[in-house]
Amino acid sequence: MFDEKFKRKLNIKKEQGLYRDPVIIENRFGKFAQINGAMILSFASNDYLGISELDISKDIVGRNFKKYGTSSSSSRLVSGNYSIINQAEDEYASYFGFESAIFYPSGYQANLGLLSSLFDSSDSVFFDKHIHASAVKGLEGSKAKLTSYNHSSFSHLEKRLSKNDAQNKAVVTESLFSMDGDILDVGILNVLKQKYNFLSIVDESHAFGVLGDKGKGVAKGVSDVAVGTFGKAFGLFGAFVLLPSLIKEYLLNFSSPLIYSTTLPEAHAASALEFLEIIENSDERRDHLKRMCTLLKAELTKAGFKVEGDAHIISIFVGDEERATQISSMMLKSGLLIFPARYPTVHKGKAILRIGMTALHNEEDLEKLIAELKRSFDKCNVSIM
Ligand SMILES: Cc1ncc(COP(=O)(O)O)c(C=O)c1O
Repeated sequence: MFDEKFKRKLNIKKEQGLYRDPVIIENRFGKFAQINGAMILSFASNDYLGISELDISKDIVGRNFKKYGTSSSSSRLVSGNYSIINQAEDEYASYFGFESAIFYPSGYQANLGLLSSLFDSSDSVFFDKHIHASAVKGLEGSKAKLTSYNHSSFSHLEKRLSKNDAQNKAVVTESLFSMDGDILDVGILNVLKQKYNFLSIVDESHAFGVLGDKGKGVAKGVSDVAVGTFGKAFGLFGAFVLLPSLIKEYLLNFSSPLIYSTTLPEAHAASALEFLEIIENSDERRDHLKRMCTLLKAELTKAGFKVEGDAHIISIFVGDEERATQISSMMLKSGLLIFPARYPTVHKGKAILRIGMTALHNEEDLEKLIAELKRSFDKCNVSIM
């Protein structure tokens, strides 16, 4: 009964070039992924600082799981509200300059838990059209009146804001956009915030750890609430939301994905505390990554590619979904892993190749990447421009 429907829908995905069949990674060695026994140079990881595979990272996590046990064994609201978790949250709040913080089991759950619970039907929420799927899901689950604005267009946002007379308004955006790789214009957001008095919620998942002084992000002082994930530059798992104490109290009482889910283990919180020190002391990694990203963008542009991205996420426009998949498969055969982002991750007909740069990459890797990109575009008959 259901099988027929599932098969039909999967076939439609295949016909549209949108079918997903992720490659199996057998093992990982720094910037290399082992696939079918071959060492593939990966540009598809969010381990931006290369922290997740450091011996010190593994030691910290191993030691803490040994000390605290393997599970929190309950939701935060039942018996999972451990002191080490509260201590870690306080340290994160203080490091990033916020009143308070709360951990969630993942960034997806953080966005879902935050955005689905904060708003009522009398509230208006404005959001950038390119925010992450988890934020969209969170907003869809809220009762607020939702209004989208064109990606990074503050003139469009202002038009929308000026026509709205809701007493409570909020704006949801990202600081470093996960696919386009562009950075939020924090100055203009702040001007609008002063003028229209909205609650600003900024997802800094891709920026925290890498951008800003000591990885403190891009939107400090402008965001009322900021979302960070441990799963990217922090090289761990789970997520943290930085926020005023009142909103933390509110979430503990109203955020269903927090209330009804097993909280992260104590060992996670203890490890997150120690990882914060690694992040603080990673200036060399951040500087190297920045140099590599600047170089890559300049060289890709010189080679004629249509490139976007202000930092460690660099996207190359392809357009056609099947072509993007073809190019990515061809790159894989040549020993390089690149993610073809297609609808619904990006808009229809706007497929891109998403390059995730890490501090582990060097100039030789970039030369190889550019040479293989040129060859694959050429072989797939895709014009670079
Ligand atoms: C902008 C953004 N927010 C949130 C998430 C979800 O984070 P997590 O992987 O911790 O669930 C992602 C993950 O890709 C993301 O890109």
